[in-house]
Amino acid sequence: MKFFIDTANLQEIEEGFQMGLVDGVTTNPSLMAKEGVSGTDKVKAHYKAICEIVGGLDVSAEVIATDYQGMIQEGEELAKLHAGIVVKVPMIAAGLKAIRYFSSKGIRTNCTLVFSVGQALLAAKAGATYVSPFVGRLDDISSDGMQLIADIRLVYDNYGFTTQILAASVRHPMHIVDCAKIGADVITAPLSAIKPLLNHPLTDAGLAKFLSDHKKASSN
Ligand code: G3P
Repeated sequence: MKFFIDTANLQEIEEGFQMGLVDGVTTNPSLMAKEGVSGTDKVKAHYKAICEIVGGLDVSAEVIATDYQGMIQEGEELAKLHAGIVVKVPMIAAGLKAIRYFSSKGIRTNCTLVFSVGQALLAAKAGATYVSPFVGRLDDISSDGMQLIADIRLVYDNYGFTTQILAASVRHPMHIVDCAKIGADVITAPLSAIKPLLNHPLTDAGLAKFLSDHKKASSN
């Protein structure tokens, strides 16, 4: 299972990468705006900086255009920035067509804003490298985000689709554990949702006991 970090914050990416927790990065226009990155040149420079931090790992960079020609132009420019770039395309009709085009050109894609099995099926048929179902945003509207991951897993396995399930809008550690049980290929989350996986009170108590026993034995 791969862990992607869902942020455009360079320090957070650096920290996750140095901890060995990061297999890739996802961004979106909201995350870029949060970092104050705007304007074509600055956006491109920011993507390049992310790619350089994580070496050859995948970095999803989202197109802003919503028409087919615009997506193709933007996606091709993004893909030229670095070998690690994965062009992120929204789940709309023009997006599916663009995914098909990018797939035929060997440009990897991440189909984003996916909220149903039907949408995930279309993304796979179009040849998306990754599909991004948004778990947390479904939970937010009293729907079952994790059930969507399970349903997409079932459908993809039924037909041997190779599109990787990239569970997105992952907000807390149990989302990650549940995705792992279901068999999501990738989760993307902020570092704040990944780090708590490390913690267990019995680990802390056990380590404290080991160290105090060792200290007692050493002072005998
Ligand atoms: O990868 C998509 C993600 O950034 C959305 O997360 O928490 O805004 O729903 P959230």
